Amino acid sequence: MRTLRAVAELRAALAQTRRAGRTIALVPTMGFLHEGHLSLIAAARDQADEVVVSLFVNPAQFDEASDLDAYPRDEARDAGLAAQAGAHLLFAPPVQEMYPAGFTTQVRVQGPLTEELEGAHRGAAHFHGVTTVVTKLLNMVAPDVALFGQKDAQQTLVIQRLVTDLDLPVRIEVAPTIREEDGLARSSRNVRLGGDDRRRALALSRALRAAEQALAAGTSDAATLLAAARAAMDDFDVEPEYLALVDPEDLRPVATVDQETLLAVAARVGQVRLIDNTVLSPELHHRRGYADGDPPLAAGVNRTDPQEV
Ligand code: PAJ
Repeated sequence: MRTLRAVAELRAALAQTRRAGRTIALVPTMGFLHEGHLSLIAAARDQADEVVVSLFVNPAQFDEASDLDAYPRDEARDAGLAAQAGAHLLFAPPVQEMYPAGFTTQVRVQGPLTEELEGAHRGAAHFHGVTTVVTKLLNMVAPDVALFGQKDAQQTLVIQRLVTDLDLPVRIEVAPTIREEDGLARSSRNVRLGGDDRRRALALSRALRAAEQALAAGTSDAATLLAAARAAMDDFDVEPEYLALVDPEDLRPVATVDQETLLAVAARVGQVRLIDNTVLSPELHHRRGYADGDPPLAAGVNRTDPQEV
């Protein structure tokens, strides 16, 4: 695997790839790679001949300077992990390469997709930072396919909207959330969970599980499901920033879970802001005879299948 830092070098390398008739997959990341990122790289290998992983801690999408400063970084480790997972190219540009002097353009997806949930709490500017950098990366790499994680469900919706609205010639694939053994969704920020906060961080996945269990027990009323989820968080003394049952396509709140519904949660645990989600599907639970005591959201993946959004 080669590591490249300049856009011109990247384009030259990929021009050769394309001339050889080989297809390209892009996995955009902010580094400090974990099993979630590595699962995207593995999935990318199945989708294209060559896999480009980008590693760029994008200042434009951080709403808190302290979060940007504290964001964990270890490029040497990331390069080793990406190579092991089968990436062909690591694109790790410095900030001045992405945002040279004079940079003033932004790409924005407007409306509820960027204003609800994460947008309501972090500000829509977070997503404008994401869509700007992802547009740049897609233009630089011109991949056939780009892969994103369901862990950031709202981000996948925003990116699919971006690609559709701007006719960007790329396929977007979404891969399932990878979790720790105990259910905590993998995140680069998890290393910052000190002491008891690692245990308290389970509040999020347990809230999702509590709602899944209540749904399986026959409750489809959103308020009741949310109350069950909220009670699970109270057990860990964690206050949600939001805990919402919404339409998985337009993020509008739902009153009843009678079709696939996104249950999304965000909470601050100690110094760290965490997010998680699951797609509730009444049929799925009933068909599988899902019961109390099952360990949903446990190690591995969500029960939701990979899906294109
Ligand atoms: P980052 O948080 O590094 O995540 C990179 C990709 O990994 C995203 O698509 C994210 O959804 C996915 N991912 C993170 N945790 C995951 C998990 N536990 N299971 C599966 N996939 C997971 O998301 C970003 O970076 C940035 O916003 C980016 C898209 C790179 C733009 O800067």
